[in-house]
Amino acid sequence: MRKIAVFASGSGSNFEAIAAAIENGQLEAEVALVVCDRPGAKVEKRAERYGIPVLSFNPKSYESKADFETFLLQQLNEAGIEWIFLAGYMRLIGPTLLQGFEGRIVNIHPSLLPAFPGKDAIGQAFEAGVKITGVTVHFVDEGMDTGQIIDQDSVRIYEGDTKEDLGRKIQAVEHLLYPAVIRSLLQEKIKR
Ligand code: GAR
Repeated sequence: MRKIAVFASGSGSNFEAIAAAIENGQLEAEVALVVCDRPGAKVEKRAERYGIPVLSFNPKSYESKADFETFLLQQLNEAGIEWIFLAGYMRLIGPTLLQGFEGRIVNIHPSLLPAFPGKDAIGQAFEAGVKITGVTVHFVDEGMDTGQIIDQDSVRIYEGDTKEDLGRKIQAVEHLLYPAVIRSLLQEKIKR
């Protein structure tokens, strides 16, 4: 079974979509580790319910990003992790992890990149008044949401939609797209 890690900072609904796809037999993989940089985040409880080990750490307890990424790299290697999937991990990945997992770190972002990178992409799209936005899954590089795009799906914003409506529609698309892309990556149907 291919071992993957999911990195999250918050609610973890995308983690749960991946875990559920595995449980339903739609995705052949094992989430062998959830990594969380915000101890107490909701994702921890979700992982617990699936019996998945969580590695929570406080970045402020380390002197530098290189320090905590060296620790993470060691834990990921010990757990036999092959791929890292970022799911609402609100932190740039540094050179230590990028080199350790070259070409095997992937992120999901709630906009049609390169539009609306960074924080609150849903709010950015809503404020800009665009009629179509969406979801992007991409390889991670050193930039902010700049890596090579793997797949995208669109979401239409209708007259009268609130930002919350848009958030719900984006999440529904994310929860289908991410497990499907992960499946293709693990089956090596997508090459970098
Ligand atoms: C998701 O919408 C994800 O696309 C976004 O954070 C949310 C996490 O939700 N990620 C980014 O904005 C990364 N730049 P979740 O914790 O419920 O999966």
